Amino acid sequence: MALYAIGDLHLGLSVDKPMDVFGPGWENHVQRLQDAFSKLHDDDVTVLCGDTSWGIDFQESLADFQFIDALPGRKLILKGNHDYWWNTAAKMKRFFAENGLTTIDILHNNCHTYGDYALCGTRGWFFEEDQKPHNEKVLNREVGRLEASLKLAEGRPILAFLHYPPLYEGYRCPEILKKLEEYGVERCFYGHLHGVTHRRAIQGSFGGVDYSLVSADYLRFEPKKICE
Ligand SMILES: [Fe+2]
Ligand SMILES: [Fe+2]
Repeated sequence: MALYAIGDLHLGLSVDKPMDVFGPGWENHVQRLQDAFSKLHDDDVTVLCGDTSWGIDFQESLADFQFIDALPGRKLILKGNHDYWWNTAAKMKRFFAENGLTTIDILHNNCHTYGDYALCGTRGWFFEEDQKPHNEKVLNREVGRLEASLKLAEGRPILAFLHYPPLYEGYRCPEILKKLEEYGVERCFYGHLHGVTHRRAIQGSFGGVDYSLVSADYLRFEPKKICE
């Protein structure tokens, strides 16, 4: 039994989406994911840190979720900036149930546990969002979602999962960093960065929180083991 994280599977089994926009490291990425996950076990848990499916709705993303469901272990899914299929928790749960997708759950406005750990998370905020332009309301909503999730930890040690990096070379999101530090988060895992942007990732200890980039191409499509 082990806990893993990987972000940005960018599956598009029902849609024609060339992946070379993200760099040359994406050849054959679906097969590579399947091979890497085949080493996991049914009692393992993997947090998928956003950008899971290119599908724009449930119908277009169903094949991707069937692929994910068939992989060993339980999967907890965060929202990424490309998850247009995302819907209300009730509708997503119904979609999973109606399609017999029994190993997938959502990490959004809630918290899960793994051993002694609380698994908390949300999509997060990144400077790209400011180019839309800056939307204070959306930022505050994300900070609120993160805090709601962190509160549910109720004293357990916390592992946090975000889609967007809360810090990056030349960028900090002080509102998100403050919450992670305030709640004593031990480790924070994030995705979103692809190709040449990997080199601008900030990893390791910062403000008492240990950060790791887990986007799929950075991990060469092997889920990162967090703990047993
Ligand atoms: Fe992303
Ligand atoms: Fe991505």
